[in-house]
Amino acid sequence: MPTYSDKVMDHLMNPRNVGEIPDADGVGTVGNPVCGDMMAFYVKVDDEDRLADVKFKTFGCGAAIAVSSMVSEMAKGMSLEEAKKLSNKDVATQLDGLPPNKMHCSNLGADALHNAIE
Ligand code: FES
Repeated sequence: MPTYSDKVMDHLMNPRNVGEIPDADGVGTVGNPVCGDMMAFYVKVDDEDRLADVKFKTFGCGAAIAVSSMVSEMAKGMSLEEAKKLSNKDVATQLDGLPPNKMHCSNLGADALHNAIE
């Protein structure tokens, strides 16, 4: 079993911002070629081009859930430009790291968010 940091466990047990935004301004989905898991991000943009709301759905492992949850929290309130620069690495760092064999899972989060913004 990989060992997860306390932060990963927290986001895994209590994921933030799970769900869909019915009238989303953007939707981004990404599949993980390594394991076949999927992730979808929904974004709502306000008049100042900031992310007013971010939600996600994932059919992925625990690490993928924790990553999506962290991405959604980090991205909320960011400008579109800032959110585009949010990287998978930033997310893994914020989670106090991921086990090496779970790093591929972290690739989904920011990628799906970027797709939603496009
Ligand atoms: Fe599929 Fe982690 S094993 S996203």
